[in-house]
Amino acid sequence: MDAKGLSVIKLNNTSSTNLAAKQFAHDGASHGTLVIASTQSSGRGRLGRQFFSYKGGLYMSLILRPTMKASDVMLITAAAAVATAEVLEEVSCKKCDIKWVNDIYSGGKKVCGILTEGGITSEGRLDYAILGIGANLARPCGGFPKEITEIADCLFERTLSDDEIENTAILIANRFFSLYEGIENRTFLQEYRRRSMLIGKTVSYNKDGEFHEAVAVGIDRDARLITKENGQEILLGAGEVSVKW
Ligand code: BTN
Repeated sequence: MDAKGLSVIKLNNTSSTNLAAKQFAHDGASHGTLVIASTQSSGRGRLGRQFFSYKGGLYMSLILRPTMKASDVMLITAAAAVATAEVLEEVSCKKCDIKWVNDIYSGGKKVCGILTEGGITSEGRLDYAILGIGANLARPCGGFPKEITEIADCLFERTLSDDEIENTAILIANRFFSLYEGIENRTFLQEYRRRSMLIGKTVSYNKDGEFHEAVAVGIDRDARLITKENGQEILLGAGEVSVKW
């Protein structure tokens, strides 16, 4: 598809743009359909968490009809992280880093999260993928909920107009599609690595109920985090790591 061939669906309030986009995808919406909402009443985060969604943030979901192998779906999130970090940095003039695998940080705090959800056909093929992106643009009226004040921040000191938010979503979607065209060549990984804030840091994570502490040393060609623990290389493909600053 052509990067400018988006078809945009604007919603006012919705439970979740990812859920709305799934419904549109089930109803036959095509590759490149972009769903945008002003607020979400049940924004979905990774690992079953809620995503705090207030008026003044950016909430978008892009419907994709991927032709790649289902196992390459990690590349979608990684390419989206690059596109989102680049555009958010351009519009806000604040440096944006990527925290593996799907968070955008600025000034050491999270300003954006990405959640990719897939729909599989009965033959096990990827029928669609929903690429959901949520960014904290303005400061929420009343501030961030206390559970996230320590880790979350916003990119602007003023409230953006609906048009500015929509234009930012379209810029992100178009930038993503320019990377998606050659996604299997993995050229975007160079920029992903350049913006990766974990490299060289000690990270901790849980695997099979066990606590691990390791040093993040790189990102491999499948966007997995390469870590070293007691001299042994361990690849992390999913889940979440905490970092010791
Ligand atoms: C995370 O940080 O865990 C991922 C958050 C993803 C949030 C976005 S907001 C737009 C889209 N709709 C949702 O319900 N979630 C994603």
